[in-house]
Amino acid sequence: MSKKQDRKASGPISTSTAIKVEDLVKNYGDKAAVRGLSFEVKPGEVYGLLGPNGAGKTTTLKIVTGLLDPTDGNVSVFGLNPVNDAVRIKSMLGYVPETVQLYDSLSIREFLQFVASIRRMDPQTANTRAKELIKAFDLEKYFDTPAMALSAGTKQKIAVISALIHNPPLLILDEPMSGLDVRSSRILKDHLTYHIKRGGAILFSTHIMEVAERICTRVGIINQGKLVAEGTVKELRELVHEAGASLEEIFLHVTAEEEGVADTIKVLEEAFGEREV
Ligand SMILES: Nc1ncnc2c1ncn2[C@@H]1O[C@H](COP(=O)(O)OP(=O)(O)OP(=O)(O)O)[C@@H](O)[C@H]1O
Ligand SMILES: [Mg+2]
Repeated sequence: MSKKQDRKASGPISTSTAIKVEDLVKNYGDKAAVRGLSFEVKPGEVYGLLGPNGAGKTTTLKIVTGLLDPTDGNVSVFGLNPVNDAVRIKSMLGYVPETVQLYDSLSIREFLQFVASIRRMDPQTANTRAKELIKAFDLEKYFDTPAMALSAGTKQKIAVISALIHNPPLLILDEPMSGLDVRSSRILKDHLTYHIKRGGAILFSTHIMEVAERICTRVGIINQGKLVAEGTVKELRELVHEAGASLEEIFLHVTAEEEGVADTIKVLEEAFGEREV
């Protein structure tokens, strides 16, 4: 019998687990993107989902946020079903998508007012938080600029701000540091740590090993839609039997890309040869 989630509304909100993913499968037509993935994120945890391009990270995050239906398996967010309880879950969730989508003609001010209104925020709280976040991410000069005239990094900052503004207990962030300048990414990292200190939970994907190493309480490395390693960075070091291994080394080891990297570099060097001019 299929384990596909049934369509009934879930029960009450559970605060003991933020996210529970069990035997998740996602196929796009006959292409398997996620192949039996299970993991859990508890309040107070930053769970970093790492994996090579095409491993299934974005697909998994979209399913947890309720933007995509799973093919099979079970997903719950605070004990609720992301598909059936989408409205309740959205109010407890801040999501930064892989590809930022803003409204070209709306300024940052208008966009954040729009975000606050659909989240039914008290306008004064929304206004105060928007101002502080705008200041923190150094966006004051762009407050009234339409989105179409903003740089990619500035748009990314707005996506981050709109995920944080309603102070949700759960953040789901798909490569949140992508395109952020050094100062902003430092501010975001520190804010994420503060979010955790206050009992929040974070599930995020990143290709930046330094970020994962610095802020994750646990890491799940996926490859071709399957979990290949999971634990604290310390536990993963023990797994690969290398006390001083960096997360980059662990990653390449468990995704079996270590030898491939050395070979590829050699092949490229041979193909390019010495520079002639
Ligand atoms: N809409 C889609 N239709 C068909 N295949 C898709 C679709 N979206 C993703 N895929 C495929 O599913 C697999 C997982 O993609 P996904 O975007 O989840 O990977 P990812 O781990 O986020 O990769 P990246 O690090 O490049 O962001 C890939 O093979 C991808 O080509
Ligand atoms: Mg992705």
